[in-house]
Amino acid sequence: MNYHIVTYGCQMNIHESEKIAGILKEKGYGTESPIEEADIIVFNTCCIRENAENHAFGNIGALKQLKREKKNLIIAVGGCMAQEEGKAQILRQKFPFIDLVFGTHNLSELGDLIDRRRARRKAIVSLREERGETEAGIEPVRTSYPGAWVNITYGCNNFCSYCIVPYVRGRERSRKAEDVLREVRSLVAEGFREITLLGQNVNSYNSDGQGGMSFPELLDAVASVEGKFRVRFMTSHPKDFSEELARVMKKHEKICNLLHLPAQSGSNRILNLMNRRYTREKYLSEIAMLRSIIPDCPVTTDLIVGFPTETEEEFEETLSLVKEANFASAFTFVYSPRTGTKAAEMEGQIPEEVSKERIMRLVAQVNENTRNLSATFVGKTTEILCEDYDEKKGLYLGRNEAGRMGYFASERNLIGEFVELKVERANGVSLFGELVEKS
Ligand code: 5AD
Ligand code: SF4
Repeated sequence: MNYHIVTYGCQMNIHESEKIAGILKEKGYGTESPIEEADIIVFNTCCIRENAENHAFGNIGALKQLKREKKNLIIAVGGCMAQEEGKAQILRQKFPFIDLVFGTHNLSELGDLIDRRRARRKAIVSLREERGETEAGIEPVRTSYPGAWVNITYGCNNFCSYCIVPYVRGRERSRKAEDVLREVRSLVAEGFREITLLGQNVNSYNSDGQGGMSFPELLDAVASVEGKFRVRFMTSHPKDFSEELARVMKKHEKICNLLHLPAQSGSNRILNLMNRRYTREKYLSEIAMLRSIIPDCPVTTDLIVGFPTETEEEFEETLSLVKEANFASAFTFVYSPRTGTKAAEMEGQIPEEVSKERIMRLVAQVNENTRNLSATFVGKTTEILCEDYDEKKGLYLGRNEAGRMGYFASERNLIGEFVELKVERANGVSLFGELVEKS
């Protein structure tokens, strides 16, 4: 029996799909296959923006015929969208052929739900209220070697006014530090070379007292695990970024000198409406503090344009922040109203054509920054963790610690190895060059 998982959204979801694959394996679905050959298809959905939802709706709808032809095929829909209030009913009405709807809080029950569905003909909808750890006993099927994701927190307490995450993922829960460390040790022993710690707001790790230590302490402990590997973490919230954390980053060579610090906007009035709890000045002073400890540390960010009532001048403050903070790159989004959030109720929603025009200007500015940072690597040697082979280009590829993707030729399969790349040219986020022997 085969499985196929369709994933939408962020790293959190990608990692959750690895756990779903682990559960499916346990249930006897041996291998991942193309969608037409699968005996179970799982949609791991995202609801952070409307287009992620539309995408999922389109893909699920397209399976009607396949389900008619394959009577024993199980179609399951999980993830954030399934957990959204009222969405399970809408899904069942629109697509009566769905067999199973499960939420973000009952991942660990997926195996039992599949058994129940196999035993009877009726569809099952099982959504739970928030609860504790979701991964006890689940062995993920890792798909990102030589990288591996490790959850440290689930949920979010911040209630940024535009964001639906706290509603679908519940309050912030921290995994026990000893469980995180055990997982990291075993991943490193298995040969994984890049560990990314995951949470909606890693800096507030242990806010519920369940972790047993603060985030800087946890990061310090993770980076102290023996072995050659890199450590990354995301996402940091600017309201909780600290000098202690910057010092831990500095202390360990294993921790990549790169910080993902979503600013969302460069305007204080908009930041206030977003309930972000920091100002532009505070944000910039944090980056300055970081760069006083780690000179030129690259910072990446998330930015939203077209938040309700955003004026042209306020948008320009976001544009100027990109320059002033010298972001290495940025994820840029058009504000998407999410039912149930405060911002969706606000007056002054921005017309789509205005937001589209703003995002184009923002992307142009971000691209300029991206090019500028990439150009700084030309003529230099940078360490790359080889991740993959690009058939089309006939080149191996992997990232350096600043997240730039390096491409190079090699006779030997280098996936999973650290190599030194002498960069000859740069294009956007990509660097091209030749391998040099390590001295
Ligand atoms: N509209 C647009 N972007 C959003 N994000 C979160 N919610 C929304 C929304 N309603 C963005 C934020 C966040 C990233 C993961 O997604 O920038 O940091
Ligand atoms: Fe959403 Fe804000 Fe929490 Fe990030 S910190 S998940 S943007 S509520």
